[in-house]
Amino acid sequence: MVTLSVTQGDIATAEVDAIVVNLFEGVTTPGGGTGAVDRALDGGISGVIADGEISGKQGEIVMLHTLGKLPAKRVLVVGLGKSARLDAGVVRDVSGVTARYLQRVGAKRAATIAHGAGIGGLDAAASGQAIGEGTVLGLYAFKRYRTRKEGEPEKVLEELTIVEQDASRVAPLEAGLKRARILAGGVVLARELVNEPANVMNPARMAEVAAEVARETGLELTVLGREDMIEREMGAILAVTAGSANEPKLIVLEHKGDPEHPDNNIALVGKGITFDSGGISIKPSARMWEMKGDMSGGASVIGAMKAIAALGPKINVFGVVPAVENMPSGTAQRPGDIIRAMNGVTIEVDNTDAEGRLVLADAISWIKAERGAKRIVDVATLTGAIVVALGHVATGVMGTSQQMVDAVLAASKATGEKMWQLPMFEEYKRQNRSDYADIKNTGGRPAGSITAAFFIAEFTDGVEWAHLDIAGTFMAERNRGHVVKGATGVPTRTLVQLVEDLAAQA
Ligand code: BES
Ligand code: MN
Ligand code: ZN
Repeated sequence: MVTLSVTQGDIATAEVDAIVVNLFEGVTTPGGGTGAVDRALDGGISGVIADGEISGKQGEIVMLHTLGKLPAKRVLVVGLGKSARLDAGVVRDVSGVTARYLQRVGAKRAATIAHGAGIGGLDAAASGQAIGEGTVLGLYAFKRYRTRKEGEPEKVLEELTIVEQDASRVAPLEAGLKRARILAGGVVLARELVNEPANVMNPARMAEVAAEVARETGLELTVLGREDMIEREMGAILAVTAGSANEPKLIVLEHKGDPEHPDNNIALVGKGITFDSGGISIKPSARMWEMKGDMSGGASVIGAMKAIAALGPKINVFGVVPAVENMPSGTAQRPGDIIRAMNGVTIEVDNTDAEGRLVLADAISWIKAERGAKRIVDVATLTGAIVVALGHVATGVMGTSQQMVDAVLAASKATGEKMWQLPMFEEYKRQNRSDYADIKNTGGRPAGSITAAFFIAEFTDGVEWAHLDIAGTFMAERNRGHVVKGATGVPTRTLVQLVEDLAAQA
């Protein structure tokens, strides 16, 4: 991972491969650090502005060669957009784009000014955090299985230093970077789990990764296998796993942040379908490979738990991941089967491809019964319908506790991971009625994300519950800002923020 640091001084004198300064949209005579570098370059930056090579729009970059006028060989001027629109999200995204640019031109060591910390209206800690997160996340790449050709040197940005003139800003910038390392570390772990193919990242492997996290952090780990699930009559998880040769695992990581108050707790429950073929209700083959990412909810929970352990909020947190593969075979469940979930509710399996809600049902019942969870937020790549509703821009939020939903939305505002609430009007609920069992696992095409939420709600009696449908946001088609093509790691940062917010409220 790129090394992030802060030093006090003058960016113009930094002895690095490249220095990074910025420009707000519409500014023609740069001030601050950018102004100082402009003067050292005898007006080189004003020149490229006057020539119209950069206008300061968000994400624009021009590179100037310093030709001996500065110790650094290159200067990057990056656009921050309109100054009134600047926030941590802009700095995070710009930092991601900048980091990839620096790496592409072969810079190993770079220095940057603290975007937005002066005239931009961000405090220094927020600026440092956004720069750190954007840099680490923007550089992330999943290259484990790519053999590099001989004589093809790998370009790696190894170091980024924030050079700050004002000595009083150094400590908060460093604090921001520290948070960034922790949060980005959680997101990177989530992305790694999601990008791994399903032949590697099966339920047992997910449990191993959780065990590594537990070893590194001191989180407590419990893993249930098939026999445990049979003993506890977890008929819903067992039905989904019935067609798979890979043993299911119910993974539980615990952060005991407030042991004196066991009820001050929250469970983060993440769907962990390590591959979703659809089962007997098999999916079409086009893009079926994406279903290696059907454990993204679980991955974000494991990533968040790692960060939570490092941050140590005063609240008890359960990270719960039902890790199961959904496969067709002679032993698989069939459409029309009637199963009994752990809490006794009988379910008509209308479609074996609606498996996420089944594994979540038993995971939720388990964490309520065995650990007394009082609040639950589940995260799942649950429905194609959410992609129709919100596209690849926003995660869908639903829930029976408006307080929990509001807490999630507030956390999402703080992290910039966009979310939007869908209504749980009682009228939708009847779509889940079954002629043969207490409930069926599909509610038809209309409002498919909401009926899926209503299914889960059958298992959340007595707890404050919100549900995040990330089927539209777990993967990105291309690089944009701090997001890179492939797994996004959404909503890891929001889960951590939520837990910290709840800890602060208590
Ligand atoms: N994992 C899928 C949902 C999904 C779709 C995730 C696209 C990511 C991208 C889920 O298990 C599923 O198959 N849902 C079905 C439910 C239907 C059968 C009621 C769907 O949305 O089509
Ligand atoms: Mn499915
Ligand atoms: Zn699924």
